[in-house]
Amino acid sequence: MNIFVAGGSGAIGRVLVPLLVDAGHSVTVLTRSAAKAEALRAMGSQAMVGDVFDSPALDALVAAARPDIVVHQLTAFATPGADPLAETIRIRTEGTRNLVQAAQRAGASRLVTQSISFICSPAGSAVTDEDSPLYLQGPGAVGQLAQAVAELERRTLESGLEAVVLRYGWFYGAGTSYDPAGAIPAAIRKGRMPLVGAGDSTYSFISLRDAAAATLQALTQGAPGIYNIVDDEPAPLREWLPFTARLLEAPQPGPMDPETVKQKLGDMAFYVLNHQSGASNARARRGLGWQPQTPSWRTGFAQLYGGA
Ligand SMILES: NC(=O)c1ccc[n+]([C@@H]2O[C@H](COP(=O)([O-])OP(=O)(O)OC[C@H]3O[C@@H](n4cnc5c(N)ncnc54)[C@H](OP(=O)(O)O)[C@@H]3O)[C@@H](O)[C@H]2O)c1
Repeated sequence: MNIFVAGGSGAIGRVLVPLLVDAGHSVTVLTRSAAKAEALRAMGSQAMVGDVFDSPALDALVAAARPDIVVHQLTAFATPGADPLAETIRIRTEGTRNLVQAAQRAGASRLVTQSISFICSPAGSAVTDEDSPLYLQGPGAVGQLAQAVAELERRTLESGLEAVVLRYGWFYGAGTSYDPAGAIPAAIRKGRMPLVGAGDSTYSFISLRDAAAATLQALTQGAPGIYNIVDDEPAPLREWLPFTARLLEAPQPGPMDPETVKQKLGDMAFYVLNHQSGASNARARRGLGWQPQTPSWRTGFAQLYGGA
């Protein structure tokens, strides 16, 4: 099949694109960078230089690829010189609008879109599922991000295409913030990643390889709808943070009370470190014929940081 991937040069894209090529698909990738286009061509894809915010040019690029399926992996947390949250909100709203429109105009039949599993209303000790409400009323940046995610999901699901939303957990692997050289290990090494309150805030992680494998499955499997792509083991902060500090041979994280986190680090850190809930992958296991090859973050992190 002809697959058009927007965001194929990012952390998941660099794992996904070779997987799609190896599966025999003809893959076209959008990037803003000529240098990244070269690297994408070396992976066996056709790369096209363009910007999702230039709607007429995007329409032409997507039409030229004659895609059966469009894959939306656009985010912008790492945009240099800009507010990452504002850029990511813009790409999830305006960017999604432009890409959906281009997919419709090019006659694509299916659309697979990246979302996140970790912006649902806090569910206490329970794990969330795909019917759990997004945290639209969350404070400040949390509510803004949830609203942008809601718009991305709505534009996808109401596109009139066979639409699949993949709510990935926290990515780990090369080029993510959990990369051994990434921001989270750096913060842990410097003692800047606190154990907040009782450490109940619960993360759901997913290796890039498992996230990419689920995406490949979602091209051909699964009824339209939303699927959580997370591992089998929701991880409370009090478990994964000390475990990771040991793997990194870093100092054990110190305690911080939630109020101090809120005041010093802001609403987003307060939500992430004190409030978030893990997610269940039961629907993706049933509907996509997918299961994680690394079902526990413990194994995945041990492999990732084993040489640290
Ligand atoms: N679920 C998760 O845990 C999750 C989800 C997303 C991101 N992250 C993390 O965030 C960090 C990096 O963030 P990132 O958001 O910059 O992701 P990234 O992994 O660098 O991917 C962003 C992708 O979006 C594309 N893109 C951005 N703006 C574009 C535009 N205007 N037009 C066309 N393409 C555009 C980029 O393409 P070009 O730059 O080639 O143009 C790139 O392929 C990593 O640590 C990653 O793990 C985590």
